[in-house]
Amino acid sequence: MRIRGRLLLSFVLAALVPLGALGLLLRASLIERIDAEHYRQLSTRVESARRRVDEQLAADRRAVDALCEHDAVVDGLLLDLATGRYGPATEQEMVRVLPPLMRGRRFDALFLLDARSGSGRGRILGSGHYPDQVGGRAELVDAIARVGEGAFVDTVRVRDGAGTRDQQELLTGCVVARDGAAVAVVAGRVLGPEYADELLGDVSPVRLAMDSEMPAGAEPITTFADATGENALALYATIDDAPLEREIALLRERSAYLAGAALLLAVLLALGFTLTLSRPLAELEEATRRVASGDLATEMRVRRKDEVGSAMEAFNAMTKELAVTRRKLLRAERIAAWREVARRIAHEIKNPLQPIQMEIETMQKLHARKHPSFDEEFPAGAKMILEEVRRLDDMVTEFSRFARLPRPKATEVDLREVVSHVEGLGGDEVEVVQPAEAVRVRADREQLTQVLLNLVQNGVDAARARHGESGGRVRLTLEPDPEGALLVVEDNGPGIPEADRLKVFEPYFTTKAKGTGLGLAIVHRIVGDHGGAIDVDEGIDGGAAFVIVLPASGPPAAIEASLTDDAVPLNRPSEPG
Ligand SMILES: Nc1ncnc2c1ncn2[C@@H]1O[C@H](COP(=O)(O)OP(=O)(O)OP(=O)(O)O)[C@@H](O)[C@H]1O
Ligand SMILES: [Mg+2]
Repeated sequence: MRIRGRLLLSFVLAALVPLGALGLLLRASLIERIDAEHYRQLSTRVESARRRVDEQLAADRRAVDALCEHDAVVDGLLLDLATGRYGPATEQEMVRVLPPLMRGRRFDALFLLDARSGSGRGRILGSGHYPDQVGGRAELVDAIARVGEGAFVDTVRVRDGAGTRDQQELLTGCVVARDGAAVAVVAGRVLGPEYADELLGDVSPVRLAMDSEMPAGAEPITTFADATGENALALYATIDDAPLEREIALLRERSAYLAGAALLLAVLLALGFTLTLSRPLAELEEATRRVASGDLATEMRVRRKDEVGSAMEAFNAMTKELAVTRRKLLRAERIAAWREVARRIAHEIKNPLQPIQMEIETMQKLHARKHPSFDEEFPAGAKMILEEVRRLDDMVTEFSRFARLPRPKATEVDLREVVSHVEGLGGDEVEVVQPAEAVRVRADREQLTQVLLNLVQNGVDAARARHGESGGRVRLTLEPDPEGALLVVEDNGPGIPEADRLKVFEPYFTTKAKGTGLGLAIVHRIVGDHGGAIDVDEGIDGGAAFVIVLPASGPPAAIEASLTDDAVPLNRPSEPG
């Protein structure tokens, strides 16, 4: 994975892990709060329902007690019973007055019962909820005696405009006795869904219900017993979880959107940061590549003041230092090469000087002794001296040609033209292989012609040395190359032994009787001055092959500079920066 990808991943992870943890925590605590609020509502409702039930019981109690203590209807009934005037007229009166009395006290049932002991005990003297019941019986008087101040559940038959029905009611009662007469007042309130609904209204998710059995998970509010003390009905609360679940689902959805947005933001931020970090690295990589391929003029634009900017500045300083060092090295190499040349010239000059000196000394001696053979010796001696001097002169001429080799004057050259020109100058054994399209490089046409001529001449010499005047072959191949051009001169001569393959380029290395040994030294220098490279390899049939690669860009600026007189002098400290 590239550094950009790795940085991006680490930044996104670094941003997301704490963000995700925080988000999860926040969400969990929010859900917990919503949950707690939901159940707090339930317990508040349960409390208030309990209070309402107690209040209602107390209110019913007060209303019933008020009827027993002092009420015109009850008092009239007691009087009729005590005086024996109770009869159909009283019953008719009850049918008329009791329903409005019941509704006025907000009861759902109202009994007036005969509470005297004896056979009439329990007779219905009046009924607000079922007026025609008068004369019937209800087993409620003993129940009131048993329950006292409390309330109890019983089934009450009711008749109204909608018909007759039985309903469970919460009954409260009292007994009032006066002058031998006794009347029980029993008031009732319907227990059931309506009762539960009325307690709270229906604005909250909490629901009250009443049943003989309470379902699991419900919150009990109160239980109502029948007259024997047995639990008959339970009032309880349940809570509707649907709104809670809807709220939680909405929260989950929103937190998912939020997480997505956070991820996007993290990726964008990380991308921005990564780019600002990795772009200069990529530039540095590219610049390093250019320097590695020899372009020491490369300079990075420093736009930042941080560590990356410092690295770029250090890179620029390094490149400058490298360029200076390379120039020094080139100069040093050239000085070393010239020393070697001077050593060889001295050796070459010393060789003919010795016979010349000996010849002159011999002739001096003969002349001093007036020797008769002096006249005979002189022409031969003088000829030998002249020959040696001519050889010295030739050598010096050749050398100065090599020494004065000018810097290449590069122009755009199609190498096919140079190759064809050399083919024309070469012998019959020379063949040329070259492409149909132009192979262009920047080069000094004259110098390249000289390179190819020297190589072809060497090839012809070598091929003839092995095969005589016929049978020798020299092939000159030109090809385009990724760098520029590839030139190969090969022959079917004896080849060059491995040990001599470097030496052949040194000045004055020759194996030929009349060779100067400067041909390949000149070739090597011209190719080097063009920024190219030359190598020796195996050619046709074990012969030699000289392989030259020339860059399309031509002589590098640094090499041209190294040859000028104002090139950086050796040992001068490089300028800072
Ligand atoms: N194609 C070749 N096959 C075999 N040996 C070669 C070939 N080319 C060069 N040499 C060897 O390298 C030596 C140096 O060659 P270079 O061209 O420098 O000088 P030269 O050919 O000897 O002299 P000059 O070039 O002045 O005629 C040659 O003497 C020869 O021994
Ligand atoms: Mg030669």
